[in-house]
Amino acid sequence: MSLRDRRVQYETAGLDRADLAADPTRQFSQWYDEALAAGVAEPNAFTLSTVDHLGRPNARVVLARGADARGITYFTNYTSTKSREVAGAPCVSGTFAWLDLHRQVRVRGEVERLSEHESDDYFASRPRESQLGAWTSPQSEVIADRAVLEVRLAEVRGQFGEGPVARPPFWGGWLMTPTEWEFWQGRPSRLHDRFRYSQSADGWVINRLAP
Ligand SMILES: Cc1cc2nc3c(=O)[nH]c(=O)nc-3n(C[C@H](O)[C@H](O)[C@H](O)COP(=O)(O)O)c2cc1C
Repeated sequence: MSLRDRRVQYETAGLDRADLAADPTRQFSQWYDEALAAGVAEPNAFTLSTVDHLGRPNARVVLARGADARGITYFTNYTSTKSREVAGAPCVSGTFAWLDLHRQVRVRGEVERLSEHESDDYFASRPRESQLGAWTSPQSEVIADRAVLEVRLAEVRGQFGEGPVARPPFWGGWLMTPTEWEFWQGRPSRLHDRFRYSQSADGWVINRLAP
């Protein structure tokens, strides 16, 4: 295995200040559509970073299920590590890496729980097997072996029979309200383009950052 000499040249047209949307959500939406059109695998996947009660960072990939003027939504187990950590430190960061396009988007903000209604609505739209999976997994807890999940899944199947599967009270959505975004476009010679949007009283302020 050789990582040391592996290099990719980022031959892209770059990102100009004049081409940026005034609103970062619109810029994100445009880049997301381009990632989708380019065939990037799971373009809504992003790395969600939280910190624990000692300030130690913790990061994992989750799927964004919405990105609009309100913010970015994702769904998970409310008793998981990521959900417990935001109770003490609600500021999180998200990183989208669309490597085929040599692009990265970073976003930071505070999270809050989505309303019960919105979580119910999204849960109802999930495939039945995913719904049963949400009931089955005590996410982030230590389990003895895989059989624990299989036994629990059989119990859950028996419990719901052929009927509808209600949303577990311990599962639902989070909404991140961004206060800062950064759009990164790879360029040759490692002189990449970076633009940061910071929220101010007068709206979004855009600055170019050194790569
Ligand atoms: C591509 C991908 C998508 C994922 N999407 C989600 C998701 O939307 N929600 C979720 O809870 N976990 C998702 N996971 C699993 C998480 O990365 C993580 O393992 C899990 O949420 C437990 O994290 P925690 O113990 O830090 O809370 C995904 C993992 C991958 C690789």
